[in-house]
Amino acid sequence: EKEGYDYFMIKEINEEGTAIKNTLTEKDNIKKITDDLSDINRIVFVACGTSYHASLTGKYLLESLAGIPTDVLLASEFKYSENTLNDETLVIFISQSGETADTLKALNIANETSKTLAIVNVAGSSATRRAKYVIHTQAGPEIGVAATKTYVSQLTSIYLFAALLAHDDNLLERLQKVPEYFEDILKDSEIIEKMASKYKYAQDFFFIGRGYAYPIALEGALKLKEITYIHGEGYAAGELKHGPLALIDQGVPVVVVLPPGENHRKTMSNLEEVKSRGADVIAVGSFNDEKLISKANDLFLINDEVDDLIAPLVYIIPLQLLSYYIAIERGLDPDKPKNLAKCVTVE
Ligand code: F6R
Repeated sequence: EKEGYDYFMIKEINEEGTAIKNTLTEKDNIKKITDDLSDINRIVFVACGTSYHASLTGKYLLESLAGIPTDVLLASEFKYSENTLNDETLVIFISQSGETADTLKALNIANETSKTLAIVNVAGSSATRRAKYVIHTQAGPEIGVAATKTYVSQLTSIYLFAALLAHDDNLLERLQKVPEYFEDILKDSEIIEKMASKYKYAQDFFFIGRGYAYPIALEGALKLKEITYIHGEGYAAGELKHGPLALIDQGVPVVVVLPPGENHRKTMSNLEEVKSRGADVIAVGSFNDEKLISKANDLFLINDEVDDLIAPLVYIIPLQLLSYYIAIERGLDPDKPKNLAKCVTVE
């Protein structure tokens, strides 16, 4: 069922535009949920791994668009802060499988005190049966162990949720265009294949970003670790000086996630910091960013309509592709990374 693709992972990356389109059809269902939640004054996200990174984007969105204080907890750490929940808190569980043990355990606890919402890809899974509200991400079955199309579908659900809660019609409209940007990115995937062959022997990678670009950096690093077995660290660009800069040396690849937006100037200065220490800067930015183009060693460019607000949905694609092609260059099977399972049913 790979339909001509070499691996499920690349097939599923190619299905991301469709996954987003299908998830956008959940809008009316999500509207019913947001209409019912007018009395909440706090949101807590609970998730693991890639779903945790989608949750981090959710925090930025909900706080900036809806003004609702939002926390993000790792499901395995949830029990250490459960006591502050009450009936005005909405606890959102994000899980592709709907069967992750830590997430389900936290869901049981949160059900006792708070309203619960599960954002899940597998219909009929345990999380969908236990949460008060459910949003189904419409990614279709994901076979590759690394989450790709389910991640962008989770993000799409959160964007819809935040836009509806905040009555932000402009954002709702902008989301409709996202699948178009994907097609352009996939057409340029040869650029990433070349980067992959250049960097396949690297021992460490850093990924940096600010604001909305920060969770993108974290997710890019997680994908790299999972399927290429290269050490990758995602960092908030502003944290570089507080430690990791000591590790930046000649030839260390640093992926700088730099969509247009208000953080641009500051992240650019972080780029210059790593570059002056000899890093190979791999920049993901926009076509009209001349400054970036003149500074980076390697570049992947995206339509400049994609600003930092919607970048999480789009800028992750080249990073997923980079990990995929490095895995291929290293002779690894990206669908079945060692020691990992699609669904983690133990705590
Ligand atoms: C990474 C990945 C994992 C999962 C995590 C949570 O590519 O797939 O990090 O995101 O195990 O799984 P779910 O979303 O099923 O709860």
